[in-house]
Amino acid sequence: METKPIYLTDSYKKTCKAKIVDIKTEGNLTTIILDQTVFYPFGGGQPSDQGIIEGKNGSLEVQQVLLKGDIKHTGKLKGKLSIGDTVECAIDWKRRFFNMRNHSAGHLIHEATKLIFPELIAVEGEHGKKSYIKYQGNLEEISSNLILNKANELIKKSLPIFTEFVTLEELKKRSAWVPEHLPTNKPLRIMWIGDFAPIPDGGTQLANTSEIENIESVQIVSDNEFSYVHYKISNNQSVQNLESEILNYSNNNSPYREDLINLKNQAIAQISEVKDLEELEEIRINLFGRKGKFTLASREIAKVPVEDKKQYGITLNEVKQTLENLLSEKRNELNNSARVWFDPTMPSKKVNLGKLHMVTNAINEIAEVFEKLGFQRMKYPEVEFDYFAFGALNFPENHPARDDWETFFVNAPEHYKYGPMLLTPHTSSGQIREMLGNKPPIRMINIAKCYRRQISVKHLTMFHQFEGLVVDKDINITNLKGTLDHFAKTFFGPDRATRLRPYHFQFTEPSFEVDISCNVCNGTGKTLGGVACKLCKEGWLEIGGAGMVHPNVLKNCGVDPKVYSGFAFGWGVERTYMMKSGLSVPDIRLLYSPDLRVLEQL
Ligand code: FA5
Repeated sequence: METKPIYLTDSYKKTCKAKIVDIKTEGNLTTIILDQTVFYPFGGGQPSDQGIIEGKNGSLEVQQVLLKGDIKHTGKLKGKLSIGDTVECAIDWKRRFFNMRNHSAGHLIHEATKLIFPELIAVEGEHGKKSYIKYQGNLEEISSNLILNKANELIKKSLPIFTEFVTLEELKKRSAWVPEHLPTNKPLRIMWIGDFAPIPDGGTQLANTSEIENIESVQIVSDNEFSYVHYKISNNQSVQNLESEILNYSNNNSPYREDLINLKNQAIAQISEVKDLEELEEIRINLFGRKGKFTLASREIAKVPVEDKKQYGITLNEVKQTLENLLSEKRNELNNSARVWFDPTMPSKKVNLGKLHMVTNAINEIAEVFEKLGFQRMKYPEVEFDYFAFGALNFPENHPARDDWETFFVNAPEHYKYGPMLLTPHTSSGQIREMLGNKPPIRMINIAKCYRRQISVKHLTMFHQFEGLVVDKDINITNLKGTLDHFAKTFFGPDRATRLRPYHFQFTEPSFEVDISCNVCNGTGKTLGGVACKLCKEGWLEIGGAGMVHPNVLKNCGVDPKVYSGFAFGWGVERTYMMKSGLSVPDIRLLYSPDLRVLEQL
């Protein structure tokens, strides 16, 4: 037999009569199981109650209550208590009331935090010796006062705190957050403060935020991933004064509506414990029969004051629907009638097949063109040291790209030799890694992600480049031009034009920028009605850089520039793909749109 948890339906009840169902003594500790209890067992971040269980011939000084299958009250036994004894239970109300205030304060802190930082995700809460709410996300220490003031502001509003039993279905509909692995065979409870969204909670809650009195302090502790909002409530509660507040609390709610909610809570608890169909039918008649509790409650509407009638009607409907659904679910469960219906002749459901993203397709196509020319596909780090991305590539110390306006630096300790870490702003770092790791002849293609602090119709913050590097004896500019021409013709088709513009890169000499005629405006720079092309403006779109590897770079990698020479090129994958024949993409950001209407066309 399960212990009836009185604390769940009435957190202000301090005493109750109960019967001992089981009693065991081990060493100097005795554990008692009762048929009902007012003692809150440790859980949900709230400490357990303490108090006394008193029988005719003995008593248990309860030190700890745990929910381990049953609700187990453990402590020191004086005299004798036996199975079947009727006992008086009394909790240490001062301790319980503090825990209630602390628990409700935790929920209030959460609501205050979410009002200011809605993006944070609550992970867990602790309302005992240590009291905090843990969030996924970053919070600055400086926000402590903001949260403290907001929470105390809410306390002063004297917001009512509600608890209600619900089914899992209802919980999913009403609760802002549904934890995983909720029990399906037990009534679940939600709590909510004022107009805030309900959340699942099994603790003992206050009836009104004013009873928290005051939150004294809030302290934020953050590591990289999680933030802890620690809080402390005032300790100056005067237990005697509480009685009047407690008596007042139910006035926040219409008494008729409260009766209805109680009726629902009781019925949910009864239905969830039913063992056979007969018992279930009895409950149904007790609720919905001619003289059933619900039938009588629905007649009460005549007596409900006009201003409460509408709300009463809504609650009546909710309660009716919840209980009817629960009855029918339970009936199905008991009938074991949830037979699996299976018709093998039914046509199957059409499965929506996915496809590779166009950037993945572009990478594969690009790699194929170069692999056929004997280039070997390599992969190098995308989180790299400054030395490989800049230093060894002949960038001077004060080059603007090394500034964090262009490049994302990683918050990690600097390497004594290779400097700070960064997200690769280009794939040219792969040139250094390749030459340091392999001796010429080299023919490599490195396709990887790049990151820059840029965003516009032509710029992405994360994009891809493909970097080619050839190092051998007697490599010259015609080899470079021939390779690029071959790629352009194979990838874009014979009609598209390319042009080389002299340019300057630190790591190539001579250097070029490679452009391709724009396919949105056919290389004219103008779209319909003579409007300037949004993508290129002048008929050409820059797709990459190229040049002969600078002798300093060869030297930095231990390659003798008197013996070897090389060429390199680095193009943007997304820009190259956008320029592909037949595709008209006016904004590069569309390539990463999650919108299926866009994705299906690409
Ligand atoms: C470079 O990144 C050089 N490392 C290229 C290079 C390699 C030159 C080897 C010489 C030898 P640049 O910053 O111009 O150069 O970028 C090359 C290409 O990457 C651009 O032409 C463009 O196609 C693409 N690109 C650059 N920034 C972005 C961005 N924010 N979004 C999308 N594509 C970009």
